[in-house]
Amino acid sequence: MSNLDTRILFRPFSIRSLELKNRIVMAPMTRLFSPEGIPGEASAAYYRRRAEGRVGLILSEGTVIDRPASRNDSAIPFFHGDAALAGWKNVIDAVHSAGGLMAPQIWHTGAARYINGWEPDAPVESPSGLDSPGDPRGVAMSEENIADTISAFAKAAADAKRLGFDTVEIHGAHGYLIDQFFWAGTNQRTDRYGGATIKERSRFASEIVSAVRLAVGPEFPIIMRVSQWKQQDYGVRVAETPQQMEDWLLPLVEAGVDVLHCSQRRFWEPEFPEIDGSNGLNCAGWAKKVTGAATISVGSVGLDNDVTNAFAGKGSAPASLDRLIERMEREEFDLIAVGRALMSDPDWVAKVENGNYAALEGFNPAALGELL
Ligand SMILES: Cc1cc2nc3c(=O)[nH]c(=O)nc-3n(C[C@H](O)[C@H](O)[C@H](O)COP(=O)(O)O)c2cc1C
Repeated sequence: MSNLDTRILFRPFSIRSLELKNRIVMAPMTRLFSPEGIPGEASAAYYRRRAEGRVGLILSEGTVIDRPASRNDSAIPFFHGDAALAGWKNVIDAVHSAGGLMAPQIWHTGAARYINGWEPDAPVESPSGLDSPGDPRGVAMSEENIADTISAFAKAAADAKRLGFDTVEIHGAHGYLIDQFFWAGTNQRTDRYGGATIKERSRFASEIVSAVRLAVGPEFPIIMRVSQWKQQDYGVRVAETPQQMEDWLLPLVEAGVDVLHCSQRRFWEPEFPEIDGSNGLNCAGWAKKVTGAATISVGSVGLDNDVTNAFAGKGSAPASLDRLIERMEREEFDLIAVGRALMSDPDWVAKVENGNYAALEGFNPAALGELL
Protein backbone atom coordinates (compact mmCIF):
# COMPACT_ATOMS: atom_id res chain seq x y z
CA MET A 1 0.00 0.00 0.00
CA SER A 2 3.04 2.25 0.35
CA ASN A 3 2.65 3.65 -3.19
CA LEU A 4 -1.07 4.18 -2.97
CA ASP A 5 -2.33 7.57 -4.12
CA THR A 6 -5.27 8.47 -1.89
CA ARG A 7 -5.75 12.04 -3.08
CA ILE A 8 -9.14 11.17 -4.53
CA LEU A 9 -10.41 10.73 -0.96
CA PHE A 10 -9.32 14.24 -0.10
CA ARG A 11 -11.32 16.18 -2.66
CA PRO A 12 -13.97 18.49 -1.17
CA PHE A 13 -17.65 17.69 -1.48
CA SER A 14 -20.63 19.97 -1.01
CA ILE A 15 -24.36 19.59 -0.85
CA ARG A 16 -26.83 22.32 0.15
CA SER A 17 -25.21 24.23 3.03
CA LEU A 18 -22.64 21.50 3.78
CA GLU A 19 -19.06 21.85 2.55
CA LEU A 20 -16.81 18.92 3.42
CA LYS A 21 -13.03 19.06 3.15
CA ASN A 22 -12.78 15.40 2.20
CA ARG A 23 -14.86 12.32 1.38
CA ILE A 24 -14.41 10.47 4.67
CA VAL A 25 -17.32 10.15 7.09
CA MET A 26 -17.17 8.69 10.59
CA ALA A 27 -19.83 5.96 10.68
CA PRO A 28 -22.43 6.20 13.46
CA MET A 29 -21.47 3.90 16.33
CA THR A 30 -23.45 3.33 19.52
CA ARG A 31 -21.08 3.65 22.45
CA LEU A 32 -23.27 3.34 25.57
CA PHE A 33 -21.31 5.96 27.47
CA SER A 34 -24.20 8.31 28.25
CA PRO A 35 -25.45 7.41 31.70
CA GLU A 36 -29.06 8.54 32.12
CA GLY A 37 -29.08 9.41 28.40
CA ILE A 38 -26.93 12.52 28.69
CA PRO A 39 -23.71 12.85 26.65
CA GLY A 40 -20.95 14.23 28.86
CA GLU A 41 -17.46 15.70 28.54
CA ALA A 42 -15.94 12.34 27.60
CA SER A 43 -18.25 12.14 24.58
CA ALA A 44 -17.40 15.71 23.52
CA ALA A 45 -13.68 14.92 23.77
CA TYR A 46 -14.15 11.65 21.83
CA TYR A 47 -15.82 13.41 18.89
CA ARG A 48 -13.41 16.38 19.05
CA ARG A 49 -10.47 13.97 18.62
CA ARG A 50 -12.01 12.74 15.31
CA ALA A 51 -12.38 16.37 14.19
CA GLU A 52 -8.72 16.98 15.09
CA GLY A 53 -7.92 13.81 13.16
CA ARG A 54 -9.38 15.42 9.99
CA VAL A 55 -12.56 13.37 9.55
CA GLY A 56 -14.64 15.14 6.86
CA LEU A 57 -18.02 14.56 8.48
CA ILE A 58 -18.69 12.96 11.86
CA LEU A 59 -21.94 11.04 12.34
CA SER A 60 -22.82 10.61 15.99
CA GLU A 61 -23.77 7.38 17.67
CA GLY A 62 -27.52 6.73 17.42
CA THR A 63 -29.34 9.22 19.67
CA VAL A 64 -33.03 8.81 20.30
CA ILE A 65 -36.12 10.91 19.63
CA ASP A 66 -38.75 11.88 22.20
CA ARG A 67 -40.96 8.79 22.41
CA PRO A 68 -41.61 6.76 25.59
CA ALA A 69 -39.67 3.67 24.46
CA SER A 70 -37.38 4.93 21.72
CA ARG A 71 -34.18 3.30 23.03
CA ASN A 72 -33.15 -0.24 23.94
CA ASP A 73 -30.37 0.49 26.45
CA SER A 74 -30.20 2.99 29.32
CA ALA A 75 -26.82 4.38 28.23
CA ILE A 76 -27.98 5.40 24.75
CA PRO A 77 -28.14 9.22 24.64
CA PHE A 78 -31.40 11.11 24.24
CA PHE A 79 -31.76 13.79 21.59
CA HIS A 80 -34.46 15.56 23.57
CA GLY A 81 -34.81 17.24 26.95
CA ASP A 82 -32.78 20.21 28.17
CA ALA A 83 -29.98 18.24 29.86
CA ALA A 84 -29.26 15.94 26.91
CA LEU A 85 -29.48 18.75 24.36
CA ALA A 86 -27.07 20.82 26.47
CA GLY A 87 -24.71 17.83 26.35
CA TRP A 88 -25.05 17.69 22.55
CA LYS A 89 -24.46 21.45 22.28
CA ASN A 90 -21.20 20.90 24.11
CA VAL A 91 -20.33 18.11 21.64
CA ILE A 92 -20.96 20.18 18.51
CA ASP A 93 -19.10 23.18 19.93
CA ALA A 94 -16.12 20.94 20.68
CA VAL A 95 -16.19 19.49 17.15
CA HIS A 96 -16.46 22.93 15.55
CA SER A 97 -13.62 24.27 17.67
CA ALA A 98 -11.39 21.61 16.11
CA GLY A 99 -12.55 22.40 12.56
CA GLY A 100 -14.91 19.43 12.23
CA LEU A 101 -18.46 19.06 10.95
CA MET A 102 -21.06 16.77 12.47
CA ALA A 103 -24.59 15.34 12.32
CA PRO A 104 -26.48 13.55 15.05
CA GLN A 105 -27.92 10.22 13.93
CA ILE A 106 -31.54 10.41 15.11
CA TRP A 107 -33.05 7.07 16.00
CA HIS A 108 -35.93 5.06 17.37
CA THR A 109 -35.09 1.44 18.12
CA GLY A 110 -38.66 0.15 17.58
CA ALA A 111 -39.09 -3.40 18.80
CA ALA A 112 -35.42 -4.37 18.36
CA ARG A 113 -33.94 -5.94 21.49
CA TYR A 114 -30.55 -4.99 22.90
CA ILE A 115 -28.10 -7.76 23.75
CA ASN A 116 -28.08 -7.05 27.48
CA GLY A 117 -31.85 -7.48 27.76
CA TRP A 118 -32.54 -4.00 29.19
CA GLU A 119 -36.21 -2.99 28.92
CA PRO A 120 -37.67 0.54 28.83
CA ASP A 121 -40.50 1.44 31.25
CA ALA A 122 -43.08 1.87 28.47
CA PRO A 123 -44.01 -0.92 26.03
CA VAL A 124 -41.87 -0.92 22.89
CA GLU A 125 -43.65 0.10 19.69
CA SER A 126 -43.34 -1.02 16.09
CA PRO A 127 -45.52 -1.32 12.98
CA SER A 128 -47.09 -4.65 13.96
CA GLY A 129 -45.73 -5.52 17.42
CA LEU A 130 -42.95 -7.74 16.02
CA ASP A 131 -39.18 -7.63 16.57
CA SER A 132 -38.72 -10.00 13.64
CA PRO A 133 -41.16 -12.18 11.68
CA GLY A 134 -42.91 -14.52 14.14
CA ASP A 135 -41.30 -12.86 17.18
CA PRO A 136 -43.88 -10.69 18.99
CA ARG A 137 -42.65 -7.84 21.19
CA GLY A 138 -44.45 -4.75 22.46
CA VAL A 139 -47.37 -3.09 20.74
CA ALA A 140 -48.41 -2.19 17.21
CA MET A 141 -48.46 1.58 16.74
CA SER A 142 -51.75 3.44 16.42
CA GLU A 143 -52.09 6.19 13.81
CA GLU A 144 -51.71 8.65 16.68
CA ASN A 145 -48.46 6.99 17.80
CA ILE A 146 -47.23 7.24 14.21
CA ALA A 147 -48.13 10.93 13.96
CA ASP A 148 -46.37 11.65 17.28
CA THR A 149 -43.28 9.74 16.15
CA ILE A 150 -43.10 11.69 12.90
CA SER A 151 -43.33 14.94 14.90
CA ALA A 152 -40.63 13.73 17.29
CA PHE A 153 -38.23 13.07 14.39
CA ALA A 154 -38.99 16.56 13.01
CA LYS A 155 -38.44 18.14 16.43
CA ALA A 156 -35.10 16.34 16.82
CA ALA A 157 -33.97 17.56 13.39
CA ALA A 158 -35.02 21.13 14.21
CA ASP A 159 -33.07 20.87 17.49
CA ALA A 160 -30.02 19.58 15.61
CA LYS A 161 -30.10 22.66 13.41
CA ARG A 162 -30.78 25.00 16.35
CA LEU A 163 -27.82 23.59 18.34
CA GLY A 164 -25.52 24.24 15.38
CA PHE A 165 -25.11 20.76 13.87
CA ASP A 166 -24.21 20.86 10.19
CA THR A 167 -26.62 18.20 8.96
CA VAL A 168 -28.77 15.39 10.37
CA GLU A 169 -28.91 11.64 9.68
CA ILE A 170 -32.18 9.74 10.09
CA HIS A 171 -31.53 6.09 11.05
CA GLY A 172 -33.69 4.01 8.73
CA ALA A 173 -31.49 0.88 8.73
CA HIS A 174 -30.59 -2.35 10.54
CA GLY A 175 -34.04 -3.55 11.65
CA TYR A 176 -34.94 -0.62 13.94
CA LEU A 177 -38.27 1.24 13.85
CA ILE A 178 -38.19 2.82 10.38
CA ASP A 179 -36.71 -0.35 8.88
CA GLN A 180 -39.40 -2.43 10.61
CA PHE A 181 -41.86 -0.48 8.46
CA PHE A 182 -39.84 -1.17 5.28
CA TRP A 183 -39.51 -4.89 6.04
CA ALA A 184 -42.54 -6.93 4.90
CA GLY A 185 -41.80 -9.50 7.63
CA THR A 186 -42.37 -6.95 10.42
CA ASN A 187 -44.90 -4.65 8.73
CA GLN A 188 -48.21 -6.45 8.47
CA ARG A 189 -50.36 -3.34 8.68
CA THR A 190 -53.45 -3.03 6.58
CA ASP A 191 -53.68 0.77 6.81
CA ARG A 192 -51.80 3.25 4.61
CA TYR A 193 -48.48 2.53 6.41
CA GLY A 194 -48.49 -1.11 5.29
CA GLY A 195 -49.03 -2.92 2.02
CA ALA A 196 -47.71 -5.58 -0.29
CA THR A 197 -45.24 -3.28 -2.04
CA ILE A 198 -42.10 -1.63 -0.75
CA LYS A 199 -43.41 1.68 -2.10
CA GLU A 200 -46.35 1.44 0.31
CA ARG A 201 -44.12 0.43 3.22
CA SER A 202 -41.88 3.43 2.47
CA ARG A 203 -44.67 5.85 3.36
CA PHE A 204 -43.83 6.13 7.08
CA ALA A 205 -40.21 7.04 6.27
CA SER A 206 -41.28 9.48 3.55
CA GLU A 207 -43.62 11.25 5.94
CA ILE A 208 -40.77 11.54 8.46
CA VAL A 209 -38.52 13.03 5.78
CA SER A 210 -41.20 15.52 4.67
CA ALA A 211 -41.73 16.63 8.27
CA VAL A 212 -37.97 16.92 8.82
CA ARG A 213 -37.57 18.97 5.64
CA LEU A 214 -40.33 21.32 6.78
CA ALA A 215 -38.64 21.64 10.17
CA VAL A 216 -35.12 22.37 8.90
CA GLY A 217 -35.86 24.46 5.81
CA PRO A 218 -34.45 24.17 2.29
CA GLU A 219 -30.71 24.60 2.89
CA PHE A 220 -30.00 22.08 5.66
CA PRO A 221 -28.92 18.73 4.20
CA ILE A 222 -30.78 15.57 5.22
CA ILE A 223 -29.05 12.18 5.23
CA MET A 224 -30.93 8.92 5.60
CA ARG A 225 -29.30 5.61 6.46
CA VAL A 226 -30.85 2.47 4.97
CA SER A 227 -29.78 -1.16 4.69
CA GLN A 228 -30.91 -4.34 3.05
CA TRP A 229 -29.69 -6.37 6.05
CA LYS A 230 -31.30 -6.46 9.46
CA GLN A 231 -29.57 -7.29 12.73
CA GLN A 232 -32.40 -9.81 13.19
CA ASP A 233 -31.53 -11.46 9.84
CA TYR A 234 -28.36 -10.59 7.93
CA GLY A 235 -29.61 -12.39 4.81
CA VAL A 236 -32.95 -10.64 4.33
CA ARG A 237 -33.39 -7.97 1.64
CA VAL A 238 -35.87 -5.12 1.31
CA ALA A 239 -35.29 -4.78 -2.44
CA GLU A 240 -34.71 -7.87 -4.59
CA THR A 241 -34.40 -5.88 -7.83
CA PRO A 242 -33.23 -2.42 -8.92
CA GLN A 243 -36.88 -1.53 -9.62
CA GLN A 244 -37.79 -2.37 -6.02
CA MET A 245 -34.83 -0.33 -4.86
CA GLU A 246 -36.17 2.63 -6.81
CA ASP A 247 -39.68 2.09 -5.35
CA TRP A 248 -38.11 2.04 -1.86
CA LEU A 249 -35.67 4.94 -2.08
CA LEU A 250 -36.99 7.38 -4.66
CA PRO A 251 -39.96 8.44 -2.47
CA LEU A 252 -37.46 9.29 0.28
CA VAL A 253 -35.41 11.46 -2.07
CA GLU A 254 -38.56 13.11 -3.44
CA ALA A 255 -39.60 13.87 0.15
CA GLY A 256 -36.31 15.66 0.84
CA VAL A 257 -33.39 13.27 1.45
CA ASP A 258 -30.18 14.68 -0.04
CA VAL A 259 -27.80 11.85 0.79
CA LEU A 260 -28.57 8.14 1.07
CA HIS A 261 -26.23 6.26 3.37
CA CYS A 262 -26.38 2.63 2.28
CA SER A 263 -25.13 0.35 5.00
CA GLN A 264 -23.47 -2.89 3.98
CA ARG A 265 -20.90 -5.02 5.75
CA ARG A 266 -18.33 -5.15 2.90
CA PHE A 267 -18.41 -2.15 0.59
CA TRP A 268 -16.97 -3.98 -2.42
CA GLU A 269 -19.79 -6.53 -2.66
CA PRO A 270 -22.16 -6.09 -5.62
CA GLU A 271 -25.80 -5.52 -4.72
CA PHE A 272 -27.29 -7.34 -7.71
CA PRO A 273 -24.48 -9.63 -8.93
CA GLU A 274 -26.93 -11.47 -11.18
CA ILE A 275 -27.42 -8.36 -13.36
CA ASP A 276 -24.97 -8.37 -16.27
CA GLY A 277 -23.32 -5.12 -17.21
CA SER A 278 -23.99 -3.50 -13.84
CA ASN A 279 -20.28 -3.14 -13.20
CA GLY A 280 -20.60 -4.78 -9.80
CA LEU A 281 -22.28 -1.70 -8.28
CA ASN A 282 -22.69 -1.94 -4.53
CA CYS A 283 -25.71 -0.82 -2.51
CA ALA A 284 -24.72 2.86 -2.54
CA GLY A 285 -23.87 2.60 -6.26
CA TRP A 286 -27.33 1.31 -7.11
CA ALA A 287 -29.01 3.82 -4.78
CA LYS A 288 -27.22 6.61 -6.63
CA LYS A 289 -28.12 5.15 -10.01
CA VAL A 290 -31.85 4.65 -9.32
CA THR A 291 -32.46 7.91 -7.40
CA GLY A 292 -29.82 10.36 -8.62
CA ALA A 293 -29.09 11.28 -4.98
CA ALA A 294 -25.62 11.55 -3.49
CA THR A 295 -24.62 8.45 -1.52
CA ILE A 296 -22.35 7.28 1.27
CA SER A 297 -21.00 3.74 1.22
CA VAL A 298 -19.53 1.83 4.18
CA GLY A 299 -18.28 -1.56 5.25
CA SER A 300 -14.88 -2.91 6.30
CA VAL A 301 -12.85 -0.02 4.94
CA GLY A 302 -9.20 -0.54 5.80
CA LEU A 303 -9.91 -3.75 7.73
CA ASP A 304 -9.60 -7.45 6.97
CA ASN A 305 -12.98 -8.56 8.37
CA ASP A 306 -16.51 -7.22 8.81
CA VAL A 307 -18.42 -5.62 11.67
CA THR A 308 -20.00 -8.85 12.93
CA ASN A 309 -16.53 -9.70 14.28
CA ALA A 310 -16.61 -6.60 16.50
CA PHE A 311 -20.00 -7.66 17.87
CA ALA A 312 -18.30 -10.97 18.76
CA GLY A 313 -15.49 -9.04 20.52
CA LYS A 314 -12.92 -9.76 17.77
CA GLY A 315 -10.35 -7.40 16.30
CA SER A 316 -9.28 -6.83 12.68
CA ALA A 317 -5.96 -6.32 10.97
CA PRO A 318 -5.41 -3.40 8.60
CA ALA A 319 -6.18 -4.02 4.92
CA SER A 320 -5.27 -2.15 1.75
CA LEU A 321 -7.33 0.78 0.51
CA ASP A 322 -6.79 -0.13 -3.20
CA ARG A 323 -10.34 -1.30 -3.72
CA LEU A 324 -11.74 1.85 -2.16
CA ILE A 325 -9.66 4.10 -4.40
CA GLU A 326 -10.74 2.12 -7.46
CA ARG A 327 -14.43 2.55 -6.48
CA MET A 328 -14.00 6.27 -5.80
CA GLU A 329 -12.34 6.68 -9.20
CA ARG A 330 -15.39 5.09 -10.83
CA GLU A 331 -17.59 7.57 -8.90
CA GLU A 332 -19.73 4.69 -7.73
CA PHE A 333 -20.62 6.68 -4.58
CA ASP A 334 -19.72 10.14 -3.26
CA LEU A 335 -18.57 9.56 0.30
CA ILE A 336 -17.21 6.64 2.32
CA ALA A 337 -17.94 5.98 5.97
CA VAL A 338 -15.38 4.38 8.25
CA GLY A 339 -16.49 2.76 11.49
CA ARG A 340 -14.26 0.49 13.57
CA ALA A 341 -10.96 1.82 12.21
CA LEU A 342 -11.96 5.28 13.50
CA MET A 343 -13.21 3.91 16.80
CA SER A 344 -9.75 2.47 17.48
CA ASP A 345 -7.75 5.34 16.00
CA PRO A 346 -8.95 8.97 16.00
CA ASP A 347 -6.05 9.83 13.67
CA TRP A 348 -6.90 7.23 11.01
CA VAL A 349 -7.86 9.87 8.41
CA ALA A 350 -4.82 12.06 9.08
CA LYS A 351 -2.55 9.02 8.76
CA VAL A 352 -4.09 8.08 5.40
CA GLU A 353 -3.87 11.67 4.18
CA ASN A 354 -0.17 11.81 5.12
CA GLY A 355 0.55 8.44 3.49
CA ASN A 356 1.57 7.07 6.87
CA TYR A 357 0.04 3.66 6.16
CA ALA A 358 2.56 1.82 8.32
CA ALA A 359 1.02 3.51 11.37
CA LEU A 360 -2.49 2.11 10.69
CA GLU A 361 -3.21 -0.53 13.30
CA GLY A 362 -6.58 -1.99 12.37
CA PHE A 363 -9.33 -2.44 14.95
CA ASN A 364 -8.61 -3.37 18.54
CA PRO A 365 -11.76 -4.61 20.36
CA ALA A 366 -10.47 -2.98 23.57
CA ALA A 367 -11.73 0.25 21.95
CA LEU A 368 -15.31 -0.93 22.56
CA GLY A 369 -14.79 -0.58 26.28
CA GLU A 370 -13.60 3.05 26.39
CA LEU A 371 -14.02 6.38 24.63
CA LEU A 372 -10.55 6.58 23.12
C1 LIG B 1 -19.95 -0.85 18.29
C2 LIG B 1 -20.74 -0.48 17.06
C3 LIG B 1 -21.89 0.28 17.21
C4 LIG B 1 -22.65 0.64 16.08
N1 LIG B 1 -23.75 1.45 16.24
C5 LIG B 1 -24.42 1.91 15.15
C6 LIG B 1 -25.42 2.91 15.29
O1 LIG B 1 -25.71 3.44 16.38
N2 LIG B 1 -26.06 3.30 14.17
C7 LIG B 1 -25.77 2.78 12.94
O2 LIG B 1 -26.39 3.15 11.93
N3 LIG B 1 -24.78 1.86 12.78
C8 LIG B 1 -24.09 1.44 13.85
N4 LIG B 1 -23.02 0.58 13.68
C9 LIG B 1 -22.61 0.17 12.33
C10 LIG B 1 -21.52 1.13 11.79
O3 LIG B 1 -22.05 2.42 11.54
C11 LIG B 1 -20.90 0.63 10.47
O4 LIG B 1 -21.89 0.56 9.48
C12 LIG B 1 -20.25 -0.73 10.62
O5 LIG B 1 -19.40 -0.76 11.76
C13 LIG B 1 -19.45 -1.10 9.38
O6 LIG B 1 -18.39 -0.20 9.20
P1 LIG B 1 -16.86 -0.68 9.54
O7 LIG B 1 -16.69 -1.99 8.85
O8 LIG B 1 -16.02 0.42 8.99
O9 LIG B 1 -16.78 -0.82 11.02
C14 LIG B 1 -22.25 0.20 14.79
C15 LIG B 1 -21.07 -0.55 14.66
C16 LIG B 1 -20.32 -0.87 15.78
C17 LIG B 1 -19.03 -1.64 15.59
